[in-house]
Amino acid sequence: MDRVLVTRQLTPGALDPLHAAGVEVVQRPDDTPWSPAELATVAAEVDGLLCPLTDQIDRSVLEAGAAGRLRVVGNVAVGYDNVDVAAARELGVAVCHTPGVLDQTTADLAFLLVLSATRLASDAERDLRAGRRTSWGFGDNLSRDPHGSVLGLVGYGRIARQVARRAEGFAMEVLHHSRRPTGFPGYVAELDDLLAVADVVSLHVPLTDATDHLIGGRELALMKPTAVLVNTARGAVVDEDALVDALEAGRLFAAGLDVFEGEPTPSPRLLAAPRLTLLPHVGSATIGTRTKMGRLAAQGVVDVLAGRVPSNLVPPDSVPPDLVTG
Ligand code: GLV
Repeated sequence: MDRVLVTRQLTPGALDPLHAAGVEVVQRPDDTPWSPAELATVAAEVDGLLCPLTDQIDRSVLEAGAAGRLRVVGNVAVGYDNVDVAAARELGVAVCHTPGVLDQTTADLAFLLVLSATRLASDAERDLRAGRRTSWGFGDNLSRDPHGSVLGLVGYGRIARQVARRAEGFAMEVLHHSRRPTGFPGYVAELDDLLAVADVVSLHVPLTDATDHLIGGRELALMKPTAVLVNTARGAVVDEDALVDALEAGRLFAAGLDVFEGEPTPSPRLLAAPRLTLLPHVGSATIGTRTKMGRLAAQGVVDVLAGRVPSNLVPPDSVPPDLVTG
């Protein structure tokens, strides 16, 4: 009988495909994460791994697994920068992910950050809770209008396109940049040009060597001082120190982050930064979507173990279509 290690507790129903296929599910009774050493040990004893993006499935885990019976990793996330896909391919371990099922939910959250950052909602709430609003002031908590502004999407995959749809309802002008021309209206060939004209910049690229610190001090300096930066992709796409510098100096109006460097613990500088809405990587965190993600990743594992080609195999060129830069 095939054995699959599920490294964390998922939502009810998420493991249905594994149960329906009759595989043996190995899971801790609680939600304690597996250390990298534990993962490497157990990887050799299972046929499949089902894990969220917080597990680092690196070469050592994959080599240990492939030396045993490991044939597939189901990453319960659309991004897979936590998996060494090249090593997996080399070792004959398939990698599946969760494209398509979280676009709307993540776009909702991105738009929440667009609105919260431009309207300074987090700062206003913090002021209120801290007792700093004892009277109503005409000039208190003055923010900016998202409606009618220019939204610049960096990356134009599925999630970005859903954000664009939401922006239409706010009468925003939507521009987008990706490395290759998309053929869609609003395409801007140079990232610098997009950054210079956008009132809101929202990031939708995968984390790769090319996008690590894509937005640093130089790029932030190109943005309008009235502009807002939103990141729902991966923390390392933004140089966090440079972002905090810009917020502190008033060179950037505000930011909304669902992802940050050093997750899950924000740095003291980030926590203290002004005009920042900060969330703990909850882009896809609705009951329905998380369950769909679990089922899709689990189905991919089942398909590989049954000798079928799953629909959600990580693409050969390793660039996730949902977060593709172009
Ligand atoms: C979440 O960040 C995901 O990649 O699914």
